[in-house]
Amino acid sequence: CYKTMSDDKSNMVTCTAPVNIAVIKYWGKRNEELILPINSSLSVTLHQDQLKTTTTVATNRSFEEDRIWLNGKEEDISHPRLQSCLREIRRLARKRRNDTHQSFDVAGLSQKVHICSINNFPTAAGLASSAAGFACLVYTLARVFGVEGELSAIARQGSGSACRSMYGGFVQWIQGERDDGKDSLAQQVEPESHWPELRILVLVVSADRKPIGSTSGMQTSVKTSALLKHRAEGVVPKRMGDMIEAVCQKDFTTFAELTMKDSNQFHATCLDTYPPIFYLNSVSQQIINVVHRYNRHYGETRVAYTFDAGPNAVIFTLEQHFSEFVQVVQHFFPSEINGGKFIKGLPVDDANLSEGLKQDIGLEPMPDRISYIISTKAGPGPCVVEDHSQHLLGSDGMPK
Ligand code: DP6
Repeated sequence: CYKTMSDDKSNMVTCTAPVNIAVIKYWGKRNEELILPINSSLSVTLHQDQLKTTTTVATNRSFEEDRIWLNGKEEDISHPRLQSCLREIRRLARKRRNDTHQSFDVAGLSQKVHICSINNFPTAAGLASSAAGFACLVYTLARVFGVEGELSAIARQGSGSACRSMYGGFVQWIQGERDDGKDSLAQQVEPESHWPELRILVLVVSADRKPIGSTSGMQTSVKTSALLKHRAEGVVPKRMGDMIEAVCQKDFTTFAELTMKDSNQFHATCLDTYPPIFYLNSVSQQIINVVHRYNRHYGETRVAYTFDAGPNAVIFTLEQHFSEFVQVVQHFFPSEINGGKFIKGLPVDDANLSEGLKQDIGLEPMPDRISYIISTKAGPGPCVVEDHSQHLLGSDGMPK
């Protein structure tokens, strides 16, 4: 389903890749350059109908240098993590060419690449785009150069969490033990079809400050937090096993409780970092309270939250509670910010909130603090876009 230089004069490929949200968090590296983590992690791949990166890569004899455009703007290709991904894919392509005794330039290996990439969601929303971005880059480069097989170890060298975006559904990143990182890989635990009732809401919190980036945040945590060391060695190994079991059994209660506890412990290690790092703001804290009070009202765990390195919440729930919980969010966080279009993505049914539920939650509404909600579910891994009219580069190799 892809063309190489030998059978098509325009060697151009477009692919898409998903965002993922960790339910067991990656935080801390044992090797900065290879991006090797101090603990394993597990994530859910979000559906590309709502959140995706699209990347076109072209090779051509006439290109004078490797170039990249991100969301319409040319960026510096010399970025070390970009260079790692390009180098590793070209290395694999050369190996394949030599192993299969192909002619010198069968996959355009001597040629330069042009890369153009866009997200279908606003970068300003503060959603982790580097995972989808590097996963898409590596997947597309691999197609262009005719490389197959295990690619998550290359995506990992772009951004740690990117290795998990190489698969759909429920994905673990096994930390590995080797110094060369060859065993630090992502692996699918279950495909996206495994748990169709699971629903996911991204609550986009209007933030005024840009939080500290994950790369430097986790460096400071590794240096200063004893709690992080305890977490990586004494908590996550067992939690990974329990989480995999909960996913396989579709045990929502266990999945939800482990997800919330792991998010809370990650943010506790941020507070234990010196100087401390705060990713949660007052809106995040209010979301946490709403979720716990909602669950308490029903006497069971129907909803879970998780937060990455920023104030946005990601909510997990099951189909039967989905519409009601959206109404809860809308009631306690009313917003006109997005011109009244509060919910994007999968449709939500009308639901009436009982006075008893509102009273039991019993918090003051916080107007205009959640900009909008993206409603989605688990989705597939990277895909090739077969429709050539979707290429982001023109036949001249420049962004359209
Ligand atoms: C809090 O993958 O962005 O989202 O490897 O330095 O690029 P680098 O960091 P990154 O860190 C993600 C941290 C997290 C948790 C997670 O996704 O597991």
